[in-house]
Amino acid sequence: MRLVMLGGWGQLGSDLVSVAEGRHDLIRPPHAEVDVTDESQVGAAVRRARPDVVIDAAAFHKVELCEQDPARSFAVNALGPLHVARSARRAGARYVFVSTDYVFDGAVSTGYREDDPPTPVNVYGISKAAGERAVGLACPDSLVVRGSGLFGHAGSSGKGGNFVETMLAKAGAGEAISVVDDQVFSPTSTRDMAERILLLLERGVPSGIYHAANRGACSWYQLAEEIFRAAGLDPDLSPRPAGDQAVRRPSSSVLLDTRSAALGLPSSRSWQEAVRWYIEARPASIQASAENGTHR
Ligand SMILES: NC(=O)c1ccc[n+]([C@@H]2O[C@H](COP(=O)([O-])OP(=O)(O)OC[C@H]3O[C@@H](n4cnc5c(N)ncnc54)[C@H](OP(=O)(O)O)[C@@H]3O)[C@@H](O)[C@H]2O)c1
Repeated sequence: MRLVMLGGWGQLGSDLVSVAEGRHDLIRPPHAEVDVTDESQVGAAVRRARPDVVIDAAAFHKVELCEQDPARSFAVNALGPLHVARSARRAGARYVFVSTDYVFDGAVSTGYREDDPPTPVNVYGISKAAGERAVGLACPDSLVVRGSGLFGHAGSSGKGGNFVETMLAKAGAGEAISVVDDQVFSPTSTRDMAERILLLLERGVPSGIYHAANRGACSWYQLAEEIFRAAGLDPDLSPRPAGDQAVRRPSSSVLLDTRSAALGLPSSRSWQEAVRWYIEARPASIQASAENGTHR
């Protein structure tokens, strides 16, 4: 397949490049050339690429900044995907929109299915939920693929790193580390999410929403414990409540993958296996830049 990816130079995009290698042609115009808020730039890039599939992982996703700048949040996270979805439809391509667990409010502690109605509680979540709705209308042949708490070796460009690297850096600096223990979610390896996106496309699954987190759920504190176990570290780690936060976040946003089995697809590996893989496969370049403080 010929894939074009917008927002493709970030954490998920980097893993998509490696998993697509030798299987599909993937081009990823950089943000500086194609801004999803500019419909004519998007239209021209998609037309030129003549893709079978357009994947859209562009996002404005620092939740505090989204709260301060709702106009930008909606421009990138809702209007952006609308532009991309329209261009994909005009090009006769499938469209994949990467979305988030933050479309849910956390009232359902047993986990959210793909068909549960979005109930976002902050501007970021509202804008992504609007994006999901817009793409379904603009390009009927679209997949919405949700992940949660993404971690990949490249680190998130928009968030300036990822939780695993933040924990390892704190431990390396000998800091006492306290981590939120009352927000539960399904951590998502971007390597596994990239594989899942390709699997969905290769199997030609029906349009609609798919959950692509790793199997299981944990709090941020439990995730930190697993990271240190996998890395063979024993820092001064303690749990703490989220307390009053500037931006409301779901207390439980576990993503249940209920569609894979129904479609005969394997389920994702557990989040613990994904963390162990991340640590084992962590490139030496990241370890070195983490040690001198230059990893993003
Ligand atoms: N990270 C998480 O924890 C998390 C959790 C759940 C869902 N998600 C979703 O997963 C997706 C990928 O996340 P990620 O961690 O891979 O993000 P990332 O590393 O921040 O990558 C996002 C990419 O989008 C680009 N971008 C931002 N604004 C753009 C615009 N207006 N036009 C075109 N490109 C733009 C960025 O380029 P620049 O760096 O040049 O701006 C970057 O290449 C996003 O849709 C996000 O909402 C993320």
